[in-house]
Amino acid sequence: MITDFDSGVTMLKPSANNPATRPILSDELVANVNTKSAEALALLNQAVCEFGVDGITFANSFGAEDMVLTDLILRNNLAIEIFSLDTGRLPVETYNLIARTEQSYQTKLKLFFPKSDAVESYVRTHGINAFYETVELRKACCFMRKVEPLQRALHGKKAWITGMRAEQSSTRSNLPLREFDVSNKLEKFNPLSNWTEKEVWTYIRTHQVPYNTLHDQFYPSIGCAPCTRSVAMGEDIRSGRWWWENPETKECGLHLKK
Ligand code: ADX
Ligand code: SF4
Repeated sequence: MITDFDSGVTMLKPSANNPATRPILSDELVANVNTKSAEALALLNQAVCEFGVDGITFANSFGAEDMVLTDLILRNNLAIEIFSLDTGRLPVETYNLIARTEQSYQTKLKLFFPKSDAVESYVRTHGINAFYETVELRKACCFMRKVEPLQRALHGKKAWITGMRAEQSSTRSNLPLREFDVSNKLEKFNPLSNWTEKEVWTYIRTHQVPYNTLHDQFYPSIGCAPCTRSVAMGEDIRSGRWWWENPETKECGLHLKK
C-alpha cells in the first residue's frame, strides 16, 4: 500500500496485473470486439462523408476509449483531425502517452491550451488548487482549462467525435451513437457508446495500442492530475474523478446536455 501525497488517500499498489486492463481474451470476446470495431469504423467513415474532412474533428483525452478511436482513425488512414485539450494540469503519464502516440503513429496531434491571462487571473485571485474549495470554483477551473479551449477547437466544425460510453456514469446512461450537441451546436458522434470496458481493453490488447500506464494502476478514468485518483476494484469507473463531489455534479462542462 502507498499513500497519495496530495489527497492522503491509501491506494492499491501499482500492479501490472490489473484484471480490468487485462481481460481474458476468449474467441467470443475477440469476435464481438471485431464486429463492434467494424461498426465504429463504418460510423467514422459515415461521419467524414456527411460532414467533410474539414468539418469534423476528434476530441482525444488519451483515455483508453480515445486510444481505441485514435487507433481506428490512424490505422485506417481516416482523414479525421485529432485534437486534445492540454489543461496544463495533466498527469506526467498522459504527457508521456501523447509523445508515445505521436512516435508510434508518426503523426503530430493538435493541442489546445487555456488562455494564459485567464489562468493567471484565476490563480492570483483564488489560489493554485482552488478547485477543491467549492463546486463553483471547480467548474470555473474546468471552464477556463477545458471548455473555453474546446470552443476554440470546435470553432468552424460541423461535427465532433468523442470516446464517451453509456456505461461510464449515470449522467451518460442514455448516450446515443450520434446526437445533436445543443450546447456546442453541432453534431456529436460517440462511436463507442455501446462498448463495455472489457471490450475497450480487448481492442487495446489485440491491436497493441499504446495506453496510459496509470490505467494499470487502477485509474480507469483519467483527467487532470489533482482531480483524478485511483479506485478500488469493483468501484464505479468514474469514482476517482472529482472524488470529493456528488456523482450528479461530476461533469466538467465538455458534455452538457443544453
Ligand atoms: S470529462 O468530461 O469527464 O472530462 P471524460 O474524461 O469522461 O470527460 O472524457 C469523455 C470524452 O470527452 C473523451 O472521450 C474525449 O472525447 C473528450 N475529452 C475529455 N477530456 C478531453 C481532453 N483533455 N482533450 C480532448 N478531449 C477530451
Ligand atoms: Fe481544473 Fe481539475 Fe477541472 Fe482540471 S479537472 S480543469 S484541474 S478543476
